Amino acid sequence: MNSTAQHNSKATNTIAHRLLDWYERHARAMPWRIPPKEHAQGVRQDPYKVWLSEVMLQQTQVATVKDYFLKFVTIWPNVSDLAAGDLEDVLKAWAGLGYYSRARNLKKCADTVMAEHGGRFPETYDGLKQLPGIGDYTAAAIASIAFDQPVAVMDGNIERVVSRHLKIETPLPKSKPEIKAKLHDILHRDKPGEFAQAMMDLGATICTPKRPACALCPINDDCLAFQSGDMERFPVKLPKPEKPTRKGAAFVIRNNQGQIFLCKRPENGLLGGMTQVPTTDWTAKQDGITDASGAPFAADWQYAGIAKHTFTHFHLELSVWTAHSSSELQLDGWWCDQHALNDEALPKVMHRVLSVSI
Ligand code: ADE
Repeated sequence: MNSTAQHNSKATNTIAHRLLDWYERHARAMPWRIPPKEHAQGVRQDPYKVWLSEVMLQQTQVATVKDYFLKFVTIWPNVSDLAAGDLEDVLKAWAGLGYYSRARNLKKCADTVMAEHGGRFPETYDGLKQLPGIGDYTAAAIASIAFDQPVAVMDGNIERVVSRHLKIETPLPKSKPEIKAKLHDILHRDKPGEFAQAMMDLGATICTPKRPACALCPINDDCLAFQSGDMERFPVKLPKPEKPTRKGAAFVIRNNQGQIFLCKRPENGLLGGMTQVPTTDWTAKQDGITDASGAPFAADWQYAGIAKHTFTHFHLELSVWTAHSSSELQLDGWWCDQHALNDEALPKVMHRVLSVSI
């Protein structure tokens, strides 16, 4: 080993060890986690729970995910139960978490694990990556956390920690390969899963986007951004493009029993297969009709207001129209009692529409 490599491996171990030392004392409790003390005694995380939590956490905050996770493992305690479950029930249990293609892929992935892997998740990054809905991040997270494979796990929190530590001037996402290489260098070879979770916790609780608590950081000694005092400048990011505002209309139809008319969105595309009230054909790329001329049938439509929602790439403003109708509609869909709305796979934007319509 030449002297640079020796120096690196020493510094490397130091970062991983200091971090794991800190994690032993400060790991956040999460319902899918094995605490570090139990992990040290050989208890391992259930791959099903790691997978489920990581898919839920892809675009959603830990605090929101906890309740959904507990609901899912109560209804479907293992991958074989989920595979035997009904897709409609999975979509209903997922409603509110957003990015509904994740829920469809969740079910597909459970089916594949049962049909092609005898009910056991593959243990390698490459094997996991073949499964529906499992991309780079999720494959790395499961391989590392559930199977202690030494792969670099990189989420937004970890990118921030490493960008600051090395003062990486290249903007994200271009700097990702550099961050990944660094992570691969420094990760703990015996406890890669603990290392990944420790990095996540450090990013979430200390190396925060604004006003990081550097004085409490276990790896501040060799953090270059801390040394120069310009932590908040990292990670450098390219300016975000402005989100466009799309418009459309939503039609809330009530019958004499106070029921509301619902229908299903097309399987593919935004909010695929989710439940909605009839709307005009707005998309991420184009506006739909906003007035009552876009209604599914002629009636005495009353304007109720605007329901706003922000998706990843655009804002949506739906003009909400209401009308009464008889129970016999020439439309594909069903009537739902007011009190049963929470059992439907209604995305957040539809909850907004319904609250505007009252
Ligand atoms: N965010 C995504 N995965 C996580 C995990 N396993 N622990 C904490 N935060 C996370």
